Amino acid sequence: MKIGIIGAMEEEVRLLIDEMKEKKESQIAGMTFYEGSLRKKNTVIVQSGIGKVNMAVCTQILIDRFDVTHLINTGVAGGLYKDIEVGDIVISSDALQHDMDATGFGYDPGVIPRMETSVFQADKEMIKTAREVCREVNPDIQCFVGRVVSGDQFISDNEKKHQLISNFDGYCAEMEGAAMAQAAYLNQVPFLILRAISDKADQEAAGSYEEFEKMAIQHIVRLVLGILDKE
Ligand code: ADE
Repeated sequence: MKIGIIGAMEEEVRLLIDEMKEKKESQIAGMTFYEGSLRKKNTVIVQSGIGKVNMAVCTQILIDRFDVTHLINTGVAGGLYKDIEVGDIVISSDALQHDMDATGFGYDPGVIPRMETSVFQADKEMIKTAREVCREVNPDIQCFVGRVVSGDQFISDNEKKHQLISNFDGYCAEMEGAAMAQAAYLNQVPFLILRAISDKADQEAAGSYEEFEKMAIQHIVRLVLGILDKE
């Protein structure tokens, strides 16, 4: 087992990198890959950069060059589901790209033309473990299993938010997860997306993000380390 852990931003991976033992660094495509032991598990941690293209490139490198057997995307997200609060966690049931739009050809929003599926299923065993661990390590917050919707857009508008809920049944919106999910699907590598809610993807999103990002990251780091302790 070798687990690839990807965060888009420095602050999403820093605490994990600091915790890693026997680190070996390598640079590929402008990204720094840290290979080593995290809670005694063979892992590779990397900051992909923001957005779906960065994430897709990063995921393929982890698979081709580092031979990872499992993939985890960790970070923060905007909450969509009605009962979700800032600080809560979403464990991906599956993921799709909300900005894929071939509706002009009669496809439903989010559908990737000429692919067998556009909704990529997270690994069931990984979901189960994450759900159990989340209750143990974060007893004071809610932990949901639901759909992650990704796009190259920071969602900070109520109308757009409600579109993402009604079109896709999204639990949270972020900018990378579904790209990792699609690359994982194409390569048949099991994956999981873990996101803590930094804002509610509405008009107050930017301010909320600034205020609560740090707290959200603490929750998600606790979960990632708890999963590694368990496996
Ligand atoms: N990441 C954190 N909050 C987000 C939002 N509102 N939209 C997209 N990505 C996010």
